[in-house]
Amino acid sequence: MKAFIYEIFADYRTQIIFLHVISAVIWVGGMVAMRFAAHQSIQAIESPMHRIERAAHALKRLFWIVTPFVITLIITAVIMAVGLGFREAAVDANHNVIDEGAMFIYNIVHVKEAIWMVMGANLALMMFLRNKAEKYLNLGDALGARAKLTLIAKYMVPLNIVLGIIAIYLGVFLRNSY
Ligand code: HEM
Repeated sequence: MKAFIYEIFADYRTQIIFLHVISAVIWVGGMVAMRFAAHQSIQAIESPMHRIERAAHALKRLFWIVTPFVITLIITAVIMAVGLGFREAAVDANHNVIDEGAMFIYNIVHVKEAIWMVMGANLALMMFLRNKAEKYLNLGDALGARAKLTLIAKYMVPLNIVLGIIAIYLGVFLRNSY
């Protein structure tokens, strides 16, 4: 498996990094556009029911659009993490640290993995809450639906934007670290 990943990375390095970067652009950029453009615009709709319907629909579109890119991001991340040999540079076969600087860089790769996991879990939870909001809407319960969507808009999307920006910064750091 490792040899296969090395080969894929050697043959398609540029394309793999491109897919990683474009996935981050669409995931993080999509959330920024939703939070700071679409959200503000939707708030201007007078009828509360209509407003919540539009917000639920826009979020549904966003989540469907970003999902394939979230998956592409982790696949390309694994290929890069293995292909760039961070582990081999940091530890020997018995897990002894052989280079402190390389170990630090290898740990940054782990931090990025953890960030992806939190962002992915947060996205899954947002999808779940949005579905719930739609169910409330179908029952005519605008307040119930609004409570769920407010959580998404106020806390969950901003959390993923911040984590995404940190992950992008760490990506730039990694790129310039070897
Ligand atoms: C499993 C998690 C991740 C791992 C292991 C990972 C790993 C990496 C590595 C090794 C690089 C450097 C590539 C190179 O040197 O050519 C990189 C770059 C990058 N990563 Fe990630 N990444 C992960 C998640 C993320 C996430 C969640 C985002 C943003 C949402 C992101 C955004 C970026 C960007 C924008 C770059 C390009 C930086 C540049 O070209 O200067 N990554 N990543």
